[in-house]
Amino acid sequence: MKEKELLQKDHRYISDALKLRFNPITVREAKGCEIIDTNGKKYLDLTAGWAVANVGYGRESIAEKIHEQYLKLSFTTQLSAPSETMIQLAEKLIEITPGDFKKKVWFGHSGSDANDLISKFLPVASGRSKMISFMGSYHGQTMGASSLSGHSAQSKFEGRGNVVKIPYPNFYRPFSGIQENIGEQTIHFLKEVFQTICPAEDTAGIIIEPIQSDGGMILPPPGFLKSLRKICDENGIYLIVDEVKVGMGRTGKWFSFEHTEIIPDVIVLGKALGAGLPISAVIGRKEILDSVAAGHLLTTSGNPISTVAALESIRIIEDEMLLENACIQGELFKKGLTKLKDKYSCIGDVRGEGLAIGVEIVTDRMSKTPDSLKTSTLCYHAYELGLLIYNVGIYGNVLEITPPLTISSVEVEDALLILDQAFNNVELGNVDLEKVKKYSGWG
Ligand SMILES: Cc1ncc(COP(=O)(O)O)c(C=O)c1O
Repeated sequence: MKEKELLQKDHRYISDALKLRFNPITVREAKGCEIIDTNGKKYLDLTAGWAVANVGYGRESIAEKIHEQYLKLSFTTQLSAPSETMIQLAEKLIEITPGDFKKKVWFGHSGSDANDLISKFLPVASGRSKMISFMGSYHGQTMGASSLSGHSAQSKFEGRGNVVKIPYPNFYRPFSGIQENIGEQTIHFLKEVFQTICPAEDTAGIIIEPIQSDGGMILPPPGFLKSLRKICDENGIYLIVDEVKVGMGRTGKWFSFEHTEIIPDVIVLGKALGAGLPISAVIGRKEILDSVAAGHLLTTSGNPISTVAALESIRIIEDEMLLENACIQGELFKKGLTKLKDKYSCIGDVRGEGLAIGVEIVTDRMSKTPDSLKTSTLCYHAYELGLLIYNVGIYGNVLEITPPLTISSVEVEDALLILDQAFNNVELGNVDLEKVKKYSGWG
C-alpha cells in the first residue's frame, strides 16, 4: 500500500481511541535504530516505539527463536498447561530482580493489564481498601490501571474511588512553588494525607514510577524513594514500582529503582520485555501474587512465542552489554542537549538517567510556562528532517528521548545535529504550523 492510501484507510477504519500521533509517518520496515517509511525515506528513531525496541528493531536471533518455537509449540494456554519457556522466563526475572524474599511472577500482555492486577490484588492481599499513587503518573488504560493513573490524558474517565493521588516531587515544577527539600515536602504531604483522607492503616500500597516518564520524564530527588520505603515499612504498606517504561535496562541498570537503595515489594514490567511481542510481568511477594487463586486470568498470557522473545531479548541485553551502552550514550546525549540548552532559551530543563531523557520546552526560563505548541512543532519538524521523537508530560511540553539501547555514538551525534537544526528552524518560524496542528500528540 502507498502512503496516501494507507493514511486514508487508517483515517477511515482505525478508531481515534488508538491514535497518539506526532507526524504522518507510515512505517514499512525497521532495523537497528532506523525506521523506513512507505516512501523509502529513512529516519533515526529516538522513540524505540514508546520504549519497546530496547534491543533495536529486526533482531535476527529473536526471529529465529520465534520461528523455532512456533514450529515446536505454537501455543498452549499457560493457565491450564504450562510450558518450559514461561517457567524459564519466570526464573530469569526472579534472578535479575533484587529482594531476598519469596517471589512469584504473573504474566500478562501489556503494562495496563499488569497494573490492573495491582489495583485488584493489593486491597485483597493486605485487607486494606485504599491505594496511593502520584499526580502525573501513567499506569495504563484498562480500568484498574487508569484509576491508579494521575495523567491529564486520562482525566475524562471515572476511576475507582479508592485511589488517593499525591504530588510527584518535581524539582523543576515543585507543587508548593519551593524547590528546596521537595522530597521532604512530599513526604510531609503524604503524612497529612495519612492523618486525613487516607489513614495509613487503611492503605494497601503506594505505586510509583521511579522516573515519571509519560508525566514528563521527571526524576525524584535523591533519597526520596528511600524515604517512601521507610514510611511504607513503618505503616505496613506495600511499595510497588512501575518499571513498564524505564525498566529492562533503559536507565543503565536492569531497573530504574536500582539507582536508589530501595527494594520494592512488587515490580511491574511490560513494553521492552518482549522486544515488540506483547508480554508484561508482575514480580512480587508471594503473599500478594498468590492472594487470589485464578484471580487475573488472561488466556494467551505467558504464551510460548512472547516468552521466548523475552528470554532472547534478555540474553541480548546481557551479552551485548546494553546496560553499559545506555549509560555511555545517555551521557553523550545529555552533554549535547545541555549545549543546545545554552543555545536555545526555549529549553527549560534537560534531565534523565541513561537513555530515558527529557527536554522541557518553555516559553521563557523565567516564567517556565509550558510551550506545548513549540514542542509539537519540534517533533513534527524533526520528522521532516529524518528524526523521530515524541513528547510527553501533563502539559505535553517535554521531548522524550528513549532510543533503542543499541544506539551508537555516531547515531547520537547525528541525532543531536538534526535536533539543533530543528530548534533553529522552529525558532526562525520556518515550519508550517497548519501541518503541525493535526499532530499534537496527547491533545
Ligand atoms: C509507566 C507505564 N506504566 C504502564 C503503561 C501502560 O502500558 P501499555 O501501554 O503496554 O498498556 C505505560 C505506557 O506508556 C507506562 O509508561
